Parts: sequence; structure tokens; C-alpha cells
Amino acid sequence: MSVTVFTAVSLNGIITPARGSTGESLIPWLALPPEILEWKREARRRHDVVVVGTGTALTDDPTLTSHALPDHPAVRATLDPRGRLPRHARLFDGSARTLVGVTESTPGDYMDFLAERGVEAVTAGDGERVDLRRFLAGLAERGLSRVLVDGGGILNRALLTEGLVDRLHLLVFPAVLDAGSVNLFAGSGDLARFRLEGVERIEDYLLLQYFTPAP
Ligand SMILES: NC(=O)c1ccc[n+]([C@@H]2O[C@H](COP(=O)([O-])OP(=O)(O)OC[C@H]3O[C@@H](n4cnc5c(N)ncnc54)[C@H](OP(=O)(O)O)[C@@H]3O)[C@@H](O)[C@H]2O)c1
Repeated sequence: MSVTVFTAVSLNGIITPARGSTGESLIPWLALPPEILEWKREARRRHDVVVVGTGTALTDDPTLTSHALPDHPAVRATLDPRGRLPRHARLFDGSARTLVGVTESTPGDYMDFLAERGVEAVTAGDGERVDLRRFLAGLAERGLSRVLVDGGGILNRALLTEGLVDRLHLLVFPAVLDAGSVNLFAGSGDLARFRLEGVERIEDYLLLQYFTPAP
């Protein structure tokens, strides 16, 4: 099992222009070069599944399918132990294999809804939050062991805190955003050290690839 956190981040470590707004709105604002978007799609294709947190699924309403090719269908996942996602969320549009991390406490009507839509529920723990280690193990049991986490900040921090981040891939864009918005690793936590394994430059953008050193 391997987990790569992949995020587009400002020069001051922020991933969305304002709290509650979508990071996707940065794409037209930055006039992001097409090569960058393709680079992101390529990164997704090197993984078995793309995972986002509940906050990202609620704010962005993503499909997580833009990287799909005829011979490489998208597989997408989110966490939603409290059944907060609306029934009309695009993740439930049936266009790709979809998994949702839930717990023993997830409301029964939501579990029924997921089953009706053909969404695979991955039960991980019994609390209000998904047990991330068990969730990742559940994905691996289903053949999805190379995991790309596409945010947001709370999920990134939770994975880091649990020692579950193997790689950190950052697209650094040339802008400073409101520091009160969502940080790449939102919330407090221990210091974490990475090692650089790759740097690429496309115009004003830096693509930085880090890995977590063995303890
Ligand atoms: N720039 C980029 O590349 C990029 C990429 C992705 C997202 N974003 C932006 O990030 C923002 C959303 O980030 P966010 O930090 O608010 O939310 P998030 O990380 O996407 O989702 C966090 C939520 O996931 C749920 N969750 C369930 N189990 C969890 C666990 N074990 N650990 C952590 N979370 C768990 C929690 O929901 P409950 O509160 O219901 O418990 C938690 O609040 C959006 O604005 C989005 O546009 C930017």
C-alpha cells in the first residue's frame, strides 16, 4: 500500500482562495497552462484510486474522472461517515467505480442509498470519523493499493499525523493566498520531515516530489 498526497499549493501553503470556496476556481484565475493539468491527470493515472475528504467532496462536488481513458477507467473514493454528502453529488453519478469510507455508526438510510447506487462502502471503525488505516487496508483488499489523496487540508493532516503519507507531490503556483484559508496540512500536529526526490519547472510553476524517509 502506498499513499501519495497530491495538492496544488500557493507560495504560503494555502490550497483554496477562501474557506468554503473551491480550489478549482484557482484554475481560471491562474490561467493554468494545459501541461500542468495533463501532468496532474498523468499523476492520477499512476495510481489505482483518487481519494478526497468530505470537505472537498462537499465544496468542490468533483467527479474525479477527468483523467480517465478508455483503457484506464477512473476509480474514486471519499470519506463520509456521517452521510453528509447530498444524494445528487456528482460522485454518485454512476460514471465510475466509487467507494465511500464509512463506519459502524453511519446512518442506515445512507448505507442503503450507497448500495442502491452501486457505491462500495468501506467500513473502517465505529466512530464519527473513518479509521484511516483500516480504510486504506479496505481499499487495498479491493485491489486499490496505490492511493492518490487529492486533499483537502484536514484529511492531509490526519494522514500525516497517522504516519500514512509515503509521498508528497506539490504543484506550487506563483501566488499568495489568504492565510486564513485552508492550509495544505490544516490544523496542528507534530513536525514532519520529507526528502526531495524530484523537481520540475513549467513556466512559473514548480512540481515538487517528496518522500517520507524511513524512521
Ligand atoms: N488546491 C488543491 O489542490 C485542493 C485539493 C483538494 C481540496 N482543496 C480544497 O480543500 C478544501 C476542503 O478541505 P478541508 O480541509 O476543509 O476538508 P477535507 O480534508 O477535504 O475533508 C475533511 C473532512 O473529512 C471527514 N473525515 C472523515 N474521517 C476523517 C478522518 N479520519 N480524518 C480526517 N477527516 C475525516 C471529516 O468530516 P466531518 O467534519 O463530517 O467529520 C473532515 O472534516 C476545499 O475548499 C477544496 O477546494 C484544494
